[in-house]
Amino acid sequence: MPDMLISPVENNPSKVQLERLSHVYFEHPDLEYFTKFAIDFGFVEAARKGDTVYFRGYGISPYCYVASRSKDGKSKFLGAAFVAQTQEEFDKAAKIEGAEIKDLKDAPGGGKLITFARSDDTFMHVVHGQEERKIEIREPPTAIHESLGPMNTPFEKPREGQYQRFHPGPALVHKLGHFGYVCREFDKEFAFYTGNFNIVPTDILWHPKFENIDVLAFMHLDLGKRYSDHHIFFMQRAPPEVKKTYLHHSSYEVADFDTQLIGHEWLAKKGWKNVWGVGRHILGSQIFDYWEDPSRFKIEHYTDGDIVNSDTPTRKEVAGPISVWGPELPKDFGEDMTAHAFNQTFLKRLWENVSWWK
Ligand SMILES: [Fe+2]
Repeated sequence: MPDMLISPVENNPSKVQLERLSHVYFEHPDLEYFTKFAIDFGFVEAARKGDTVYFRGYGISPYCYVASRSKDGKSKFLGAAFVAQTQEEFDKAAKIEGAEIKDLKDAPGGGKLITFARSDDTFMHVVHGQEERKIEIREPPTAIHESLGPMNTPFEKPREGQYQRFHPGPALVHKLGHFGYVCREFDKEFAFYTGNFNIVPTDILWHPKFENIDVLAFMHLDLGKRYSDHHIFFMQRAPPEVKKTYLHHSSYEVADFDTQLIGHEWLAKKGWKNVWGVGRHILGSQIFDYWEDPSRFKIEHYTDGDIVNSDTPTRKEVAGPISVWGPELPKDFGEDMTAHAFNQTFLKRLWENVSWWK
C-alpha cells in the first residue's frame, strides 16, 4: 500500500481566518415533511422565502439550517458556511481561485456569501456582514426546563432546597456544531481546506490495518489562544468502492444531557427514526444522538463537547471504537442512505394521511 499520510498543518496569517460555523444548505424533495421533522428536532423557523425555509437555533447566527425544495426530486447537501473574522479576511477569501460572491439580501441578517464549488458537487461557503442575533440571557432556553439549578454531586451539593423540573418537548438547538464528509478526493480537498483557511487537524486517525494510511481528520478553527470546538469539520478518506463524496452527518448543539434525553423521547414519540444514541463519543467527548431526517440525512444532537486552542497538540492514533458508552454502533453508520429515501418518506406520509387505516 502506498503512503497516504496527512502532512502537518499550521495556521499562518496568509490564510483566511474564520471565526465559527454559521449554517448549512440542504435541498429536500418534501419540504413540508422536512419542516415537520425540523420543528420536532428543535429548530425554530426564522423566515420563509418562497421555497426556502431558514431555521435558527438560539445562538447568535440568524439561521443555522437553510432548507429549500429540491427541483429535481433529489435530496442534496449544498455545503456549510463559515464566518470570516473580518471584512479583510472575507476579501482575502474572495481572491481564492473559484470564489463566487453573492449578496444575501433576501436572507435574515443579510450579509455576503462567497461560494467555492469543490469536487463531486460539494460546496464551501464563507459569510460576512450578517447581523447577529442579540442574545439577552446566556442560559439554555426553557422549552423543556421548568426549574433548573446546578447539578448536585457526591461532595458538592450547591442546589439547596431547589428542584429540577422538566416537561416533554423538543431539544432546542443552540447552533450548528460540525459536519463532515466521506471524501473521495481526500488529499486534494484536505489541501484546499487546510491550505487556504485556519482549519487545522485536532485528531488524525490511521487505518486499523495500514499504519501508512490516514483515514480520518477531525478539524477545528485555529483561534490562537482562544478556545474553539474540538471539531467543526471532519473528513474521512472514502474507501475505493465509494463513487462520490457524501455528507456523513451534520450536528447541532443542545444545552445538556437532560435536554438530549427529553429531545430523544420527543423525536421517538413523533415516529422519527433514531440512527444511533444516546451515547458518549471518545474524540471530542460529546454526548451524541443521531437521527435520520425525511431525506435520510444523518443529523445529530450533541452536548458537552471539548474545546481546544493553539496549545493543544494535534494527536495521531489508530482508528478504533468511537464511543465510551451507548448502544451498539449500527453497521450502516458510515453509509449514505439518502439514495434510499423516497420509499420510506412516501410510505410514512401515506400512513399519516390515510386515517381509516388506523
Ligand atoms: Fe458528530
